[in-house]
Amino acid sequence: MTRHFLRDDDLTAEEQRHVLTLAAQIAGDRFALRPLAGPRTVAVLFDKPTLRTQVSFTTGIVELGGYPMVVDGKLAQIGVRESIADTARVLGRQVAAVVWRTYEQSRLEEMAEHVGVPVVNALTDQFHPCQVLADLLTIAQHRGGVDALPGTVLTYLGDGRNNMAHSYLLGGALAGLHVRVATPAERQPDPDVLARAEGLARASGGSVTVTADATAAVSGAGAVATDTWVSMGDDRSAEEAEALFGPFRLDERLLAHAAPDAVVLHCLPAYRGKEITAEVIDGPRSVVFDEAENRLHAQKALLAWLLEQS
Ligand code: NVA
Repeated sequence: MTRHFLRDDDLTAEEQRHVLTLAAQIAGDRFALRPLAGPRTVAVLFDKPTLRTQVSFTTGIVELGGYPMVVDGKLAQIGVRESIADTARVLGRQVAAVVWRTYEQSRLEEMAEHVGVPVVNALTDQFHPCQVLADLLTIAQHRGGVDALPGTVLTYLGDGRNNMAHSYLLGGALAGLHVRVATPAERQPDPDVLARAEGLARASGGSVTVTADATAAVSGAGAVATDTWVSMGDDRSAEEAEALFGPFRLDERLLAHAAPDAVVLHCLPAYRGKEITAEVIDGPRSVVFDEAENRLHAQKALLAWLLEQS
């Protein structure tokens, strides 16, 4: 059966753990796995801006022995010049896997339905599951390994309805973390995603909390994360974002409530002085560049595992 990674809960808890363990192993031995030797091609499609995702997927695919074919969505116009289903059938005849950054999750789902090879979500409006795999790997590296993930408190501050919030809820709950989302009432997570995360947390021993109290959310946290206040495709003005999310800015005062050995995460790009202060992101608890590197290791492990399963 062809396996896909369209959202965080496309992996079971056991599978997520396996992928994270593999990622931790191959971080120290970058050319150990060659499942794309041939080289086989992986199509990497971008309908939205990218830097980390393009670099980490192309580098990773090469290190796995394959060839990364980067497709500019503006040229390809997937779903405009021809249907997503027809595009999928064309790609599936030639490539080993498809990695796609796009808008609605339904576009990815349609690709997965027709392509016949693994599809990986490289960010949609709803989810950013590869980033959360990298974040879990980063927390594991700094806090005692993959076994130390269950029970860790992960606090996310900012836009509670964006792709990062949703993926922290699902991916974190799956891993047995206590996920706290601090966000204003206007930006509560999607209720279906929240309900799913609550179910995953019940099974894993983790928990899920959504609150407007940033200080309470950060209290005792082992990992504190934030993200841009204005995601790609969001047309919110800077003034509106400040009014909405200003109380959730990650600064030294707020971080002082976290555990003394807490790590600070940000998927980048970061806007210093907006969602996070320069002191915090450039300070001693910040692990954001480990996190950026871990995109590479996590995605390689994921691709290798998906190819093996499919
Ligand atoms: N929420 C952000 C994540 C960027 C990696 C966005 O969608 O723009």
